[in-house]
Amino acid sequence: MHNVSTEQETTELANEFSKEISLGDVIVLNGDLGSGKTFFVNKTLLNFEITDVNSPTFAIVNEYEGKVKFYHLDFYRIEKIIELYDIGIEDYFDCKEAISFVEWGNLFNDVLPEKRIEVNFKLNSNFTRDIEFKKI
Ligand SMILES: Nc1ncnc2c1ncn2[C@@H]1O[C@H](COP(=O)(O)OP(=O)(O)OP(=O)(O)O)[C@@H](O)[C@H]1O
Ligand SMILES: [Mg+2]
Repeated sequence: MHNVSTEQETTELANEFSKEISLGDVIVLNGDLGSGKTFFVNKTLLNFEITDVNSPTFAIVNEYEGKVKFYHLDFYRIEKIIELYDIGIEDYFDCKEAISFVEWGNLFNDVLPEKRIEVNFKLNSNFTRDIEFKKI
């Protein structure tokens, strides 16, 4: 578990994390609104020369192509699991030519692959943030 106080510290964690991930990985980001999930994806993907990361809240999934291909999903506005099957969620997770990030993945745990990396964000009352990495 890492306790960070500044964007710079989160950025450094993202830079380290970017060295640990590889094609086929599914990374699930959990945590409250504004806890830094999109910020973390943004900083991680800068390491792969991707500069246009935006919250995919309305599109469900964004696709980016840099040194590596990424899918960036957000489950926040999903109401029913069928919406995820309709966009072919399993194909994104099975894809071995890309890395997937899923914000709010814990809202629909049932569709997540068994093997995944979870990054949990927590906003503390003193405005620091806890960031925890878990390989499942
Ligand atoms: N140490 C920090 N780490 C990450 N973000 C920080 C930090 N300090 C301040 N921020 C700010 O907090 C905000 C986090 O917003 P972000 O969109 O990343 O949250 P989110 O978890 O994706 O929220 P949502 O659930 O709405 O998608 C950003 O505006 C960022 O600049
Ligand atoms: Mg977000």
